[in-house]
Amino acid sequence: MNDTHSAAVLQPRPWLSHLQPYVPGAPAADPDGSLASNENALGPSPRVAAALPGSLPGAERYPDALSSGLVRRIAETHGIPVDTILVGNGSDELIQLLVTAYAAYGGHVVCADPPYQLHEKLPVMLGAEVTKVPLREWAHDLEAMRALAADLAFVCNPHNPTGAILPPHEVLGFARGNRAALTVVDEAYIEYAEAGEGASLISSAARGELAVLRTFSKFYGLAGMRVGFLVADPAIIRTLQAIRLPFSVNSAAQVAAEIALADRDHGDRVRESTRENRGRLIAAFRASGYEVLESQTNFILVFAPDEARLVGRLSEAGIQVRPGSSLGVPGSVRISVPNDAGMAMFGRLPWLQTP
Ligand SMILES: Cc1ncc(COP(=O)(O)O)c(C=O)c1O
Repeated sequence: MNDTHSAAVLQPRPWLSHLQPYVPGAPAADPDGSLASNENALGPSPRVAAALPGSLPGAERYPDALSSGLVRRIAETHGIPVDTILVGNGSDELIQLLVTAYAAYGGHVVCADPPYQLHEKLPVMLGAEVTKVPLREWAHDLEAMRALAADLAFVCNPHNPTGAILPPHEVLGFARGNRAALTVVDEAYIEYAEAGEGASLISSAARGELAVLRTFSKFYGLAGMRVGFLVADPAIIRTLQAIRLPFSVNSAAQVAAEIALADRDHGDRVRESTRENRGRLIAAFRASGYEVLESQTNFILVFAPDEARLVGRLSEAGIQVRPGSSLGVPGSVRISVPNDAGMAMFGRLPWLQTP
């Protein structure tokens, strides 16, 4: 490249100029203190680690482009047809595909304010207009969202970063009555909800009433493998299959997700540990004078006018959390629910009253 083509004169497309790189949560030196990214502190099913070496012979071959084995397993687990399921490289890839197909370059997306970051960023990146609707009592204001005619409406349920959940019948009522062409319900944390699968709208998605996103990154402890799936009308699935990169989900990830989905006992342990430690953590911060939102997820939102100080004090103790100002909730700190070793790190903080 000569001087006239240097990066200084080469400009990105105009709608990209304000975008900043995604800032991931900082990891801690001791992984038990890594509480910035809502990962699963108990890790995946131990059966995954046992099976993965078996997926390496054959690595010279491309992966199954349709993730057929995993799709069949998801279909059986949720009692839905295989042609309503698309597996992606994390649910983030599927958000990108949905926006590319239905809202890119001139379309309109509505989401919450603050949203899960990529419900805003990916539409902006793809030249769509985004309207953010402020939360009401820390959950989506469906009434206000309903008034907006959009191509896509993102509803994150339970919501990240607040942990609040809306009853599924309210979200379904919104999807049926709203003016957006397609409602996408992001259920990344639904397995942690009190009602469990009862809070999910997967069957409505399989009937074509809306679309549902799920991930293996949270409850199933496979954030590093990058697997998520979409449930939607078969016509939507076919459209997205036509525009996707063919081999985005690697073979090891497909094997890992299939095994993780089948290990119900590990799932029960994750659910139990998360509920217990979440309750203890909320109680400790409340006893120490902080306001904390109720949560149906694997994270809590602690209100802290001294946000930077709280982040710093936790960091000094080896605990990395996410500053609320980076998530659109200044004056708060989002903390992923730790495992027992992580809870012990909080127990050693002299300024935190652990009941
Ligand atoms: C609401 C929500 N959706 C999607 C994702 C991304 O999931 P994945 O790792 O499957 O891309 C996250 C991750 O934090 C999330 O919080």
